[in-house]
Amino acid sequence: METLLAQPSQQAIETACQLIKEKQPVALPTETVYGLFADATDSVACENIFKAKERPMDNPLIVHICDYDMLHRVAAEVTEDAVKLAEAFWPGPLTIILKKSDIIPEEVSAGLDTVGIRMPRTPVILEVISKTGLPLAGPSANRSGRPSPTNAQYVYEDLKGRIPMIIDGGSCNVGVESTVVSLAGETPIIFRPGYVTQAQISEVLGKKVELSKGITEELLSDDKVLSPGLKHKHYAPKCEVTIINASFEKYKEKVEADGAVAFCFEEFIPNLNCQCVAYGKENNSVSQAAGLFTALRHLDEIGAEKAYAIMPTMDDVGLAVYNRLLRSAEFRVVNL
Ligand code: TXA
Ligand code: MG
Repeated sequence: METLLAQPSQQAIETACQLIKEKQPVALPTETVYGLFADATDSVACENIFKAKERPMDNPLIVHICDYDMLHRVAAEVTEDAVKLAEAFWPGPLTIILKKSDIIPEEVSAGLDTVGIRMPRTPVILEVISKTGLPLAGPSANRSGRPSPTNAQYVYEDLKGRIPMIIDGGSCNVGVESTVVSLAGETPIIFRPGYVTQAQISEVLGKKVELSKGITEELLSDDKVLSPGLKHKHYAPKCEVTIINASFEKYKEKVEADGAVAFCFEEFIPNLNCQCVAYGKENNSVSQAAGLFTALRHLDEIGAEKAYAIMPTMDDVGLAVYNRLLRSAEFRVVNL
């Protein structure tokens, strides 16, 4: 299959809509990461997403919508809390899990009775949803297990020959995937941290919001898995990454002594005598989130075999950064 890499013209948007109606998955930019989108109401279209990504079928897909009418079509019940969160954070990087309606096939929900719903912010995807009139299922547009793609080139590297089209909308601003919050149980619970934080959600709802087990540690095989994404292998570059929780001085000593690549903050670079890849600025979680996936791919581009990542702070957006980095490091953390 030939993969067309197109600029976001009206003609490209028409072509994308046509492909989606033919049940083919198309890669489009969003404010978080690039997604691979297909008709969320059609089993065959959704199966084609899983095939292109080689994604395990037990991991459910997020459904992307462009208005409240679609929200009511895909959810069985839109709760008061869901309306509060939608009004506060949509369009934007928040996925809300609700009980699903009958139009959502089991390929999307992976057999669960719920569906994750998000209204993204970028114009191209909103236009494709509104022109086709279809809610679109869309995981990140990477080969399963790889870092999520933050530009069209990375989608091309992972999915070339496997999908018919990518629309290039430049780099994604947020850089990490949406916050996933479930409103399907008794208390709101965050399954995946992101740009929208636990504190922000809790403030809007006026109640306590829990953090799922598995966000900052590895799930044990007998742990109950509420969100399948927590147990899958994720974000792994070919390079072996280890997180180092240490002061700058101790980090410097360790990374220089062991001949590893320093996966660190920009400010560290002038003071380190080794190869460095920066993933953002110190004390700036938003910049670390924006830079993380690009930096992980950069490790492979320079042929790094072993990298030591400086530990990010875990507050607010930093929790999303740590959650992704921990998975890239396959849960290796060294405390010095
Ligand atoms: O920002 C994003 O969310 C991007 C863009 C493309 O919108 N999408 C994305 O999708 O990251 P994906 O498939 O890579 O990650 C979806 C995550 C997975 O961890 C999945 O397990 C979880 O959301 N998820 C989806 N639906 C769920 C459900 N009904 N119950 C529990 N977890 C769910
Ligand atoms: Mg993904």
